[in-house]
Amino acid sequence: MSAALATADTLGAALARGRTALRDAGIEPAALDARLLVAAAAGVPVETVIAYPERALPPGAAERLQSWLARRLAREPMAYILGRREFWSLDFVVTPATLTPRPDSETLVAAVLERIGDHQAPRRLLDFGTGTGCLLLALLSELPAASGIGVDSSDAALAVARGNAETLGLATRAVFVRGDWGAGLAGMFDIIISNPPYIATHQLAALPPEVRHEPQPALDGGADGLAAYRRLMSDVARLLARGGIAALEVGDGQAADVEALGVAAGLGVAGRVTDLAGIERCVLLRTKS
Ligand SMILES: C[S@@+](CC[C@H](N)C(=O)[O-])C[C@H]1O[C@@H](n2cnc3c(N)ncnc32)[C@H](O)[C@@H]1O
Repeated sequence: MSAALATADTLGAALARGRTALRDAGIEPAALDARLLVAAAAGVPVETVIAYPERALPPGAAERLQSWLARRLAREPMAYILGRREFWSLDFVVTPATLTPRPDSETLVAAVLERIGDHQAPRRLLDFGTGTGCLLLALLSELPAASGIGVDSSDAALAVARGNAETLGLATRAVFVRGDWGAGLAGMFDIIISNPPYIATHQLAALPPEVRHEPQPALDGGADGLAAYRRLMSDVARLLARGGIAALEVGDGQAADVEALGVAAGLGVAGRVTDLAGIERCVLLRTKS
């Protein structure tokens, strides 16, 4: 690969060689990944790579691309190499300290927006395990009078979330604090959201290689995958305002168990939401009337 890329002097040649290198290694979607890497390495929009293959690579682009392809061939996620990922049509900085926002998690954002009334009303939001801040910031982008707190145990993730809030123009309405779920937190919140780690420990080794690059505390849900829900459910029950809603992302097959944990903590069940693949992805809980 190295020699071939070193001789690639146009966008088209770099694209063809990058695509072949990825495809030969069995990495899919090779064409899309190669296109995104060439565009980012050359500092041009993806459309330019497709429309102007004869264009010369700018200085330094071949070397950048070579190093990024090597990372991709080592199965590093595209989001870590590019340093960003789109979520809810917003651009998020992503680092190896944060989980890469998943399209599935947009289910939770949509579910909350569908179930609350007036989107212009002032509301207080709380996000447990905020990571990049994607869930909280996506909701704040849709709720102009709302404000929120994002909690995470990782200082490095919190720094990323703060940067994302700044870039998205939401920093005046979002605070990010270090915490162990709700320990030490006081106040009442109208909307509590969380995408906690929910992979059972024994399943971690079988995850795709890309996922294994992600931080273990963002993935590891303990022996049965439910450890984080057990810990945070009493905080949800304590901090959810009357009439409020809690939306928790769950793994495949976990919805009933998570609902049961909510009921045991004194909450009421308010429904389940499936993602685009038909998997129950989000459990909704409310205060008991
Ligand atoms: C699955 S990731 C979700 C990140 C982000 N909300 C998203 O949906 O992309 C779970 C997050 O929970 C955080 N976390 C793990 N244990 C925690 C704890 N005890 N207290 C607070 N956050 C924790 C991790 O650092 C990680 O950022």
